[in-house]
Amino acid sequence: MCGIVGILGKEPVAFDVVEALKRLEYRGYDSAGVATIEGGEIRRTRAEGKLKNLDGKLREAPHQGRVGIGHTRWATHGRPTENNAHPHATDRLAVVHNGIIENFRELREELTAKGAVFVSQTDTEVVAHLVTDLMKSGLAPREAVAAALPRLHGAFALGFIFGGEDNLLIGARRGAPLAVGYGEGEMYLGSDALALAPFTDRIAYLEEGDWVVLTRDGAQYFDETNTPVTRKPQKSQAGAYLVDKGNHRHFMLKEIYEQPEVVGRTLAHYVDMSAGKVQLPFDAPVDWTKLTRLSITACGTAFLAGQIGKYWFERLAKLPVEIDIASEFRYRDAPLDDGQLMIVVSQSGETADTLATLRYAKSCGNKILSVVNVPTSTIARESDAVALTLAGPEIGVASTKAFTCQLTVLASLAIAAGRARGVLSAEREAELINALIATPGLIADALKLEEPIAALSHSLAKASDVLYLGRGTSYPLAMEGALKLKEISYIHAEGYAAGELKHGPIALIDETLPVIVLAPRDHWFEKTVSNVQEVAARGGEIVLVGPQGASEACAVATLADVTMPEVPPDFSAIVYAVPVQLIAYHTAVVMGKDVDQPRNLAKSVTVE
Ligand code: G6P
Repeated sequence: MCGIVGILGKEPVAFDVVEALKRLEYRGYDSAGVATIEGGEIRRTRAEGKLKNLDGKLREAPHQGRVGIGHTRWATHGRPTENNAHPHATDRLAVVHNGIIENFRELREELTAKGAVFVSQTDTEVVAHLVTDLMKSGLAPREAVAAALPRLHGAFALGFIFGGEDNLLIGARRGAPLAVGYGEGEMYLGSDALALAPFTDRIAYLEEGDWVVLTRDGAQYFDETNTPVTRKPQKSQAGAYLVDKGNHRHFMLKEIYEQPEVVGRTLAHYVDMSAGKVQLPFDAPVDWTKLTRLSITACGTAFLAGQIGKYWFERLAKLPVEIDIASEFRYRDAPLDDGQLMIVVSQSGETADTLATLRYAKSCGNKILSVVNVPTSTIARESDAVALTLAGPEIGVASTKAFTCQLTVLASLAIAAGRARGVLSAEREAELINALIATPGLIADALKLEEPIAALSHSLAKASDVLYLGRGTSYPLAMEGALKLKEISYIHAEGYAAGELKHGPIALIDETLPVIVLAPRDHWFEKTVSNVQEVAARGGEIVLVGPQGASEACAVATLADVTMPEVPPDFSAIVYAVPVQLIAYHTAVVMGKDVDQPRNLAKSVTVE
């Protein structure tokens, strides 16, 4: 959840550390800090809030150290104050940490009894004191880290520097990602390859349980039994992607506009367009014909993509689907049958609850197929097969292009399953493929609605609550719309199945409540029209997102009509995602909110 960086450089490193941290700000941004070794001593600079505060402090008093670590924080233990910001330090070492040390209370008591004085409320500080304690008993830094790691419980990644050691950086990985970058006489440590992209594209990944000792000459890796192991650097693609906003005001808007391209790219990976067939780029880990049930799990927006996928697998492949959010699934003791399939959906591939559910399903004998955006992620590596979303790095905290790419992959998988199970004829498959092939162009058409949506957002920005309605695949999309709006504008919003309206939420409707209705011309269109009339009859302010003629079909007064292009019915959600995203984006912009880094959220949630 937090971001970690370490650099062993030839010149003072503090500003390079901050540069790398900027690329990790998506992981958390409530405080940040840097520590370097200067004249043999540990020197730290930390600041509350965003990185620019830290940057400002460093400019006033630059560090000279050539070895340093840095951290951008998303608070788990202790408030986001400067005092709780990382790096944490003793007179011997400084440490940065991502994740949670579960047994920190016991360790804190034990170390306090031995005389350690704790000055923060964080779990991280116990790591600093534990390693220091071991060093005081006579161990060298690397021996002390090796001895400390087995005592730490939880999922985390760590980076250390030591007083008096100008050529030493140690990293460790237990459940949270860590990458090592190779430069010319310089070495790097980072939460992901993206952070290190300005410096090097030669990246090695620590395996689960590994720890690594870096000097300017290279890296020595050890596994959790302290046995030396080899982890070969590979050429990373992270630098190939432009990590700037281009000519857009926010990353989120840039990423919304990238969708025609990335959905097309993803589609090309799964579909033989000329043959009108799905062509999976991996061997399916199960025989689709033998499956009696499919499980899907994910969190947040990825979960809502999975919800839409459920409709497709059931309709197109006649495969019963059970879907649950990962934080529930992992603790539900759900019986899962040997040999069945679980599909895990995750942009980052690092979400802690999703990973834990994957491991639970595996322990029940399920095969795992993951739909992920980061091919080197832990979820990808622990899966039996990986279906990549080729969205490229997503920087905006609110997921947009990853979502539509997830939908694209899930649609392709559902078609593959339907074909294999004899539910879909070749003709029907070709028809569905044509519908999918049309989506990038239709997304581009939908993007042309930005101006009217921006205008309508001025009304939405005044609301204190917003209701989203939809049926069929537009129901999970309505929930995604509500989630997007909550995330970045902080307006309370709910997504409801339009047919469920009369069982409760209809009581909320009055002239102050905007009701956004997602009404593509699909199997559920006529029913949705009736629901629009129910809302209108109670004075609700309707925003109708539907095709040409939808407004006439509803025959009611609306606050606004968002007139969408005509979209083939089966995969309308991929295209209707665009107005949903633009509505949230523009409402937040009108309200002056921090769209790319909304309060309290993090892009990648590696704690439960
Ligand atoms: C966080 C992000 C969401 C994301 C969810 C799951 O809450 O803010 O945008 O949907 O995690 O993340 P994942 O990387 O597993 O898709």
